[in-house]
Amino acid sequence: MPVRAWFPTLLYCEPLQKSGLERLNAELARECRDLRDYDAAGRRWSAKNYPGGYTSYASMNELHRFSSTFAALEKKLLRHARAYAAALELDLRGRTVRLTDCWVNIMPTHAAHSLHLHPLSFISGTYYVATPAGCPGLKFEDPRLSKFMAAPPRRPDARPAHRSHVTYPAVAGNVVLFESWLRHEVPANPVAAERISISFNFNWT
Ligand code: NI
Repeated sequence: MPVRAWFPTLLYCEPLQKSGLERLNAELARECRDLRDYDAAGRRWSAKNYPGGYTSYASMNELHRFSSTFAALEKKLLRHARAYAAALELDLRGRTVRLTDCWVNIMPTHAAHSLHLHPLSFISGTYYVATPAGCPGLKFEDPRLSKFMAAPPRRPDARPAHRSHVTYPAVAGNVVLFESWLRHEVPANPVAAERISISFNFNWT
């Protein structure tokens, strides 16, 4: 075959653990909602910057330092992040992968999260706590999209790996990891139930 693929973009998706996800997620969902009740600064910030929803991104983004539930989650997430870093074949120069930020996102009906990336980290991701049937997934954009210039669009029947977007469905209990420079968004939640996720960034120090 004269044509070969180079420069892949790797995405990681795996259940957090083999069992006990339901109980863990019930506990996390309770803690996420309690945090929203408690975090007035976060609710004010969300009203301006996260319309219709709640995020602790700007107010309480080091939850792993303050809650034993989140500290336990950090440990489990690190295992996945290290496996992902290994798959990326990154040379960490003797340093290790560390979780730097960890925050809660609650998206009721109509809440959306527009296209963005995660500066100041190298691996980012999301853990799904509550994903009511029909809630939106995580939509990633081909990082080369801005470089295509005069190229025609991809055929609608192109292989999934050749399309300009890929959506990972939100599945409670799953961890999705991506390189922090990869732009992504969450389309508006069309269902009458809250979609709850926990997002995080990793650095290597
Ligand atoms: Ni994000």
